[in-house]
Order: sequence, then structure tokens, then C-alpha cells
Amino acid sequence: MCGIVGYIGANEKKEFLLNGLKELEYRGYDSAGIAVLKDGNISAFKATGKLDNLKNKTENFNSIGFGLGIGHTRWATHGKPTEINAHPHQGEYSYVIHNGIIENYKEIKEELQKDGIKFLSQTDTEVIVHQFEKYINSGLSAQDAFTKTIAMLQGAYAILLITKDQPDTIFFAKNAVPLIVGKNSENDKFFASSDSPLIGYANEVVYLEDGEYGWLSKEELCLCKEDVCINPSFKPLGKDKIYAQKEGYRFFMEKEIYEQSVVVSETLMGRVNDENIELDELKDIDFDNIEAIKICACGTSYHAALTSAYLFERISKIRCEVEIASEFRYKEPLLDKKTLFIVISQSGETADTLETLKMAKKAGMKTLAICNVDNSSIVRLADATLLTRAGIEKGVASTKAFATQIITLWLFVLFLGRKKGTINSDKMQSEIKAILHIPSVLHVKDNIHEKLKRLSKRYLHGHGFFFIGRDIFFPLALEGALKLKEISYLHAEGYPAGEMKHGPIALADSELFTVALMPRTILYDKTKSNVEELSARDATILAISPEEFELADDFIKTSKQDHPMGEFFEMMIITQLLALEISIRLGNDVDMPRNLAKSVTVE
Ligand code: F6R
Repeated sequence: MCGIVGYIGANEKKEFLLNGLKELEYRGYDSAGIAVLKDGNISAFKATGKLDNLKNKTENFNSIGFGLGIGHTRWATHGKPTEINAHPHQGEYSYVIHNGIIENYKEIKEELQKDGIKFLSQTDTEVIVHQFEKYINSGLSAQDAFTKTIAMLQGAYAILLITKDQPDTIFFAKNAVPLIVGKNSENDKFFASSDSPLIGYANEVVYLEDGEYGWLSKEELCLCKEDVCINPSFKPLGKDKIYAQKEGYRFFMEKEIYEQSVVVSETLMGRVNDENIELDELKDIDFDNIEAIKICACGTSYHAALTSAYLFERISKIRCEVEIASEFRYKEPLLDKKTLFIVISQSGETADTLETLKMAKKAGMKTLAICNVDNSSIVRLADATLLTRAGIEKGVASTKAFATQIITLWLFVLFLGRKKGTINSDKMQSEIKAILHIPSVLHVKDNIHEKLKRLSKRYLHGHGFFFIGRDIFFPLALEGALKLKEISYLHAEGYPAGEMKHGPIALADSELFTVALMPRTILYDKTKSNVEELSARDATILAISPEEFELADDFIKTSKQDHPMGEFFEMMIITQLLALEISIRLGNDVDMPRNLAKSVTVE
């Protein structure tokens, strides 16, 4: 995910810009750049790969004395991670950096191209600087030109823009992506997309709200919303960097659970319009001969794959089989060129998954990667990739990566169904409505989190947990059990609810905790009977459902969703928070559980 920094003052500008970008490095990026405006000139530097490459390029550049600087790390969304696509993007006399996605950039770009404006990059961002200069060239002041440009943009953005037309000012705007303004006692001014770059530089900050924009100079901060000026309210800035990176959450895993709504919006951005799914990344792939799908993955990514198999068959009517990568490798599988081979991996480096991809490529299959890390080994090898856009995940136990994998797969299910003609437009409409509703389902509800904090104290012992569910709630049960065992070290298993009486129910007694996923939209009565059977054997039941369930020992009431995936994501958050709170009570290191690694590059 991209990072932003900005500076106004007389100190060495590249120092704050490069140090600030370094602080944002953990979010992940594939290129970086800075631009400095001093004495009426703008110097810009860009480099792909690590920040050290940018540092080397700026080695002989100095900028002491009053001036402005902006800096950016880019996580590619539109256009490949090349130097041309790296920010800042330039017009004739202005430079811009931007986090987020401008959804209507194509329309703006077409209009600008009609005026003869040439674009250098493939990014959505570049339209901002050209549109701004177009307004200035038509006679508007820089302030009016910026205000009118921002008013045209749809989507998510944090923007900083500098221009020779107004060489003492940084123009800024924020919508749905974080942006902070800071200052210190020398009246130096700063911008950053999170607290951590500002610590040690600024002592007071304003956290901008959605829809706010304005301009900042050494003397003045002018902040506006809907054409009205607002009084900025500065607050003292904390001093703890790790705390700042965690943005006040106790653990990265907790922060990542809370981030899911925002990152899923990013996964969807630019890929869904009113009537269809647009996956530009797949435009060169011919799906005509594809008759089935095979997915290989490990761990949590395998659970995302299992979930998607229900969607591929039910929604797009295409046969889908899922296999654990480490098993698939050695089973001497029969590989068919009419089967699309999909690998799912958060890191893009998992050795077993990578190896299955090599096998598929060798067999001449078409291959697709669903991955969170651009330029990873898996992305480089696959014929095509859909990036999940979860941003870097620091907690070893995967949460937001899982959510974005499933959303990406669901998008692909719809895309493929449309291509194959197996989804009619009414079904497409209802699926699009449902998928666009997911970010709001993923907002963590305070009352539910509080209840789980309280409940967790009853679940610190016992001889094990069963997570049970049917249909897509079976892979969710597997994932819930995996999360719990990873960070609490308690024994937990996921089962299809209908499977209990075929053996596992022998374990049932009051010290066996059952977490029952009981959605309203899928097989409610059948799941309920299975839970009743466990209750009759005195198992302790924690039921998660929108329907009251009188046999539950503990009950978490979910909301009434119309689509099973809405219920899925609501219950997913509950199982993640349950694992988190149990682990915290047990005093475990939530973010770095014993024996586990974030990227498993050995088999
Ligand atoms: C669990 C978890 C692991 C990974 C697995 C595959 O929380 O994170 O089970 O899902 O190691 O890793 P990736 O997705 O990077 O291939």
C-alpha cells in the first residue's frame, strides 16, 4: 500500500522525505520517488525496488534553505511497477503524489487527451496534475484550479501537489485514505499518511477527515470541505513509533482485523461497475477453452480456495477442485490443458505452492495467481495475476489477506461466469450488490468485540474446540480453528457440521467447546440439528447466528444479511476476534506465535 510524506521548511528536505518513507516501508511498495521545489526549480527522483535505490540516486542532491518536498512509495494498482509509473507525476510545472484509486480517471484522461495533453505513465494519478494545470492555464488561481480538480475526482485519495505557480505552498486533499498534517515549534510543516514518519519531527498534528482539502504554506493552513473553510484543530503527537505503526491497537493482528473493511474496498476499487466486473489484468487471457478450475494453496490460502470452490460451481457453474499444495506436488496428478490452474498465496513465496505452479506451467496449463505481493516469485511466474491489495500483513496469523483473497476470488467467479455466459444480468446485479455491501459488513462492531473480550475468559482451558459449519461455513470453520490454534496453542478442529456423527462426536462432553456457525441463509435447520446433537452430549456451545438459539451456552447474535457471503464475513470477524482475545488472555505473543513464520519458503 502506498505511503505519502511532505515537508515545508529550511532543513534538508530529502532527509525527512527519505526517513519518512522508510517508516512507511512496512506497508509494502514496489517503487518510490521524491520531488523538491526550491528557488523556483523542481528536482524529481524516482526509482523502482527498495528505497536504497532512491537514496543512491539522490546521493549528490542537497536542498538546504527554504523549500517544499513531497515523497511517495507506490504499491502498483494501475500500471506496472516501473520508474515511469512511480510517483511523483509531472505536468509542465507541477508534480503530484497520490495514494488510493481515482475511479473516473479514464473519462478525465480522455477529455485531457482531446486537448492534446500527452500522458507519460499508465497511472490513474497523472490526470490530477494535468487537470490542475489545465485550469491554471485557463486563468484560474492555483487555489481555484486545485479546488475544481478535486471536485472532479471520484474514488479514494490522499493527494499532495506542488507547483512552480505557487512555490511556497503544498496543495492537499483527502478522501477515504489517511492523511495527516503536522507542525513543530520552528513552524516547519509536514505531511504523512500515518503517524510514524512524523515522530521526532512534528509535535502537533491534524488528522484530516474525508472530503477535506486545502493548501499549506509556512505561514498558513487553509483547510476546506465543500467550499467552506474549517478551523484546523491540532493535537499533540505521541512519541512511540511501534505504537504509531499499530495506530493504537494492541497488536498488528488486531489492527489488521479492523482494517479489513478498508482493504476490501481497495480490492474492489476499479474492478466493479454498475453492471459488470472489470479485471483489466486478465484482458490478454483467453478463457474460451477453459472447462474447469484447479486451485492449489496452503493454510489460510487453502481455506480461501475451498470457499471459492462453492462459488465457482454454484454461481459460475464451472467445475472447481482444490488441493493442498504439498499433497498435490507428489501425487503425480493428471493435468489437463482445459483446466485453469490457480494458485493462492498471501506472500507469493510459499515453496509448495510455487512448485505446483511450476508443474502446471510445465504441463502447458493456463495459470493465474491470486497474491498480495507484486513481483513475488509466484506473481513473476504465473501467466496472469490478480493482486489482492491487502497491504502488508504483519501479524503472522493471516486475517485481512484471507478476506481480500476471498473477495478477489468472488470477483473472478463473477467475471468468469459472465465470460462463459452462465450468469445472467439479474444474477450479476444481485451479486454485485452483495459484494459492494461487504466493506460495511466488515466494520467491527464495538458491542461484539466487547462481548468477545468478556466471553474469552471462559474458553482458556478444556480439551479442545470444534468449529462447525456447512457449505461455505465449513471452510470458515477450518479457518476459525486454524486461527485459534495458531495464536492460543489450544487444540481446535474445523468440521463440516454434518460430519460430527461419523466419529468426532465421540469427544463431546462439557469440556469440549463447540463454536457453531449457524447462518440464516444456508442450511440453517440442518446445522441446528447437528448442534443439538452435540448439546445433547453436554458439549459447551458457543453459537454464532442471527437466529436466537436456546440451547447455546454462549450466543453471539449476528445481523440479518441477505447474502450468504455477508453472513460469512460477519462470522469471519467474530472467529478472528475470538482467537485474538483468547490469545491475549493467555499472555501469548499474538503477532509472532511460536514455531510459525510469515513466509514459508521451504517445503
Ligand atoms: C495462517 C497462515 C498460513 C498461510 C500459509 C500459506 O494464518 O498465514 O497458514 O496461509 O502458510 O501462506 P501464503 O498464503 O503466503 O502462501
